[in-house]
Amino acid sequence: MKITVQKGSLADVKTQAIILVFCEEEKTLSGPAADIDQKSGGLISDIIKRGDFEAKPSQVIAAYAMGFKPAEKIALVGLGKRSELNLEKIRRAFAKVIQELRGWRVQKAAVSLDLSLLTGKKEKIVSAAVEGAVLGLYRYIPYKTVGREELQDLQELTLVSGQKDYALVRDEVQKAKIIADAVCFARDLVSAPANEMTPSILAARAKDVAKRKNVSCIVLEKGKMKALGMNALLGVAAGSNQPPKLIVLEYRGGKKGAPIALVGKGLTFDSGGISIKPAEKMDEMKTDMAGGAAVLAVIRAAADLKLPVNLVGVVPATENLPGGNALKPGDVLRSHSGRTIEVLNTDAEGRLILADALSYVGRYKPAAIIDIATLTGACIVALGEEVAGMLGTDDPMKKDLREAADVTGELIWELPLWEHYHELIKSDIADYKNSAGRLGGAITGAAFLSKFVGDYPWVHLDIAGPAWTTKDRGYIPRGASGVPVRLLVEFLRQSSKRMQRGH
Ligand code: BES
Ligand code: MN
Ligand code: ZN
Repeated sequence: MKITVQKGSLADVKTQAIILVFCEEEKTLSGPAADIDQKSGGLISDIIKRGDFEAKPSQVIAAYAMGFKPAEKIALVGLGKRSELNLEKIRRAFAKVIQELRGWRVQKAAVSLDLSLLTGKKEKIVSAAVEGAVLGLYRYIPYKTVGREELQDLQELTLVSGQKDYALVRDEVQKAKIIADAVCFARDLVSAPANEMTPSILAARAKDVAKRKNVSCIVLEKGKMKALGMNALLGVAAGSNQPPKLIVLEYRGGKKGAPIALVGKGLTFDSGGISIKPAEKMDEMKTDMAGGAAVLAVIRAAADLKLPVNLVGVVPATENLPGGNALKPGDVLRSHSGRTIEVLNTDAEGRLILADALSYVGRYKPAAIIDIATLTGACIVALGEEVAGMLGTDDPMKKDLREAADVTGELIWELPLWEHYHELIKSDIADYKNSAGRLGGAITGAAFLSKFVGDYPWVHLDIAGPAWTTKDRGYIPRGASGVPVRLLVEFLRQSSKRMQRGH
């Protein structure tokens, strides 16, 4: 969908459908609604008088624009009570109304935003509307061959703005579009079936990202991994015929200074290996590279936004399959860091490949490390399907991530990483064991990762729950969510501002 910005007033725009946004309990029509009501001989007040439309959050009423010339159709969408309004409600409302219009085969729509709805948040109102619309329309259809013509999308959404805010709206639409497109890119990578999203193909997608200015990509192959002693990653890869790849993406948007490292789990399929998973829902394990997908998408967005930050993204990519050479429970691996790992459960493979990636990224002397991984089912048990777990060693960074999450509506919650958890991952015959059983599983997983981070400030996001959703949730249609791409981009935008202010 194309998003355009136009100066003028909504009532004069020639389009197929007009979207009017309302808050609850607003007795008198104002702004474009009043304008259109007057020009159409009372169309809007008539709809409202009938009493079906109360402007509850995401409530939509669509009607023919009888008697009103510039548009054929009109959609009223609610935001709920003005006093309870937030960005999330704006995103959801826009997703809903755009989905309704698509269902009504509308190809072009226009809307005008009231930028005073939330004080001091003009830019964020624009981006919430754009995100809601673009992300809400997302669907993964490359493999649909029957009835494709039914799958028409809305082609163009026009934001109509007055003279005063025109430049702001135009700039913010451009940025929000970049971010929403990056989220859709991540969703595409995650949605792709594992036979079409092998480690090699994921590496090729990373090379595509690197076609941008100031972005470069190198891919370490098996031989290089052997030379570097990455036996944890190689161990997981041993059961598969697909060669593993260690994808390294660099974005240099800042002048000088250490990069922020983003490390993403890239299991293109996790069968569990010899500790094989039950058949039910095993198909969902094609999404076990969602952390890696987020890393590619964040670097893509940072480059497109020209953010003044330096980034290095590392994605260890492999399949976890029970082939003849596969890792066996009880095997001991010597990791890239030199530390040894007893593999008690081959299904705890994410931490193995991340161990090597985390210690490898130390060579970039990063200012901070954030890893993103669909690491544990235990995190879903602890926090539910919609919330990512956050653990780590750096309190200021955790605070900044929480603040970014508040803005973007992605839910994260901190879990503790107290000293006694570290006892649980000690092995009898090696330095560490890769599984400490079910209790506190999200935490012992993170405790394991911490052993490979070195002294760098580090935060781990366990996205096993929110990476994939089985029910439609407004601007997150069921399937891959693209979490936490927006959150990390917001975090980077804020931290680049902080750096410019010099702290
Ligand atoms: N990829 C899974 C975690 C996962 C589960 C992600 C469900 C998304 C949905 C991970 O590799 C895994 O299997 N973890 C094990 C660890 C255990 C064996 C210590 C788990 O959580 O059961
Ligand atoms: Mn696993
Ligand atoms: Zn996994």
